Amino acid sequence: GKSGYDHYMLKEIHEQPVSLRQCISGRVDELDGRITVEELDDLGAPETVQFVACGTSYHAALYGAQLLRAAGIPANAYYAHEYATAPAPVSGDDLVVGVTQSGETADTLSALREAGGRGAETLALTNVVGSTAARESDHVVYIRAGPEIGVAATKTFSSQLVGLNLLTARLADRGVERRRDLVDELRGVPSDVQAVLDESNAAAVVEEFVDADAFFFLGRGLDYPVALEGALKFKEITYEHAEGFAAGELKHGPLALVTANTPIFAVITGDGEAARKTLGNVKEVEARDAPVVVVTDGAAEAGQYADHVLKIPRTDERLTPLLANVQLQLVAYHMAARLDRAIDKPRNLAKSVTVE
Ligand code: F6R
Repeated sequence: GKSGYDHYMLKEIHEQPVSLRQCISGRVDELDGRITVEELDDLGAPETVQFVACGTSYHAALYGAQLLRAAGIPANAYYAHEYATAPAPVSGDDLVVGVTQSGETADTLSALREAGGRGAETLALTNVVGSTAARESDHVVYIRAGPEIGVAATKTFSSQLVGLNLLTARLADRGVERRRDLVDELRGVPSDVQAVLDESNAAAVVEEFVDADAFFFLGRGLDYPVALEGALKFKEITYEHAEGFAAGELKHGPLALVTANTPIFAVITGDGEAARKTLGNVKEVEARDAPVVVVTDGAAEAGQYADHVLKIPRTDERLTPLLANVQLQLVAYHMAARLDRAIDKPRNLAKSVTVE
């Protein structure tokens, strides 16, 4: 059942502290700072990694590819439907990772088969034990999020992001990983998510925008997949027009859409160059009178330029995007609830897309 929540989606959003704890259980060791993914004991050291995925899982894949590149491993993310017909060059030294909650998405299965047929090693990052992707791939890593009933993916996306950090740690060091910072911060993620859930003002913020024309989501670097995911979740369950943009592309077109009636949700985490630049984009949209909501850990003083702030705890910069996404899950949920939409079963959508 829904355990007292109005919708499965809200229940699953609130389950994240538990599902994330399950995901890291036995895999990150507080005492010696190790990250171990037992399922990957027999995985070698691939030269490159290609991700294939659809929808929300594709956004996780975009994030994963950035993590790996930052760790020095060439990696790219592809839409599974593109990969199946226009595959990237691949050999036996490469790893192709299907990111798929259900393990049954037809396009992702086709892409994995295509890659395997051309000699690549394949890995399924999935939630469903014994799913087709899990059975057909050379390797499998389970994200252990538990069953997800809501059509809109929430807790499984968060667990995918953690799973991609585990995979990156495993591949970057070829075995024992001694990066105590990431271990400590990973162990802190469940309580960081709990803090977001306890303190979020998302319900009050969306109330201001019930009559908006469209909703835009901006981010760069690791915050870019979060912007895309924030917009996807929002359009899926509110049926309002929502788009995610790379903040750096704003001036190259999307800025033409910005008006006083298009709220901008800017994801700005960390205090590096990316955060500073996205802050510059926030000033540009403000100059067009757009209402601005900043999702931030506060490091970049982003709040000063925003009409509203959705605050998240500070943690490792690889993990703040996960926390920012929880705020955007709540934004989508509360707007959909306010508009009385069919949150758990959005029109025209199915939980698992088993035809191409
Ligand atoms: C969005 C959503 C879909 C799925 C996509 C892939 O909320 O749930 O976009 O992410 O259909 O599904 P899986 O991960 O099962 O391959």
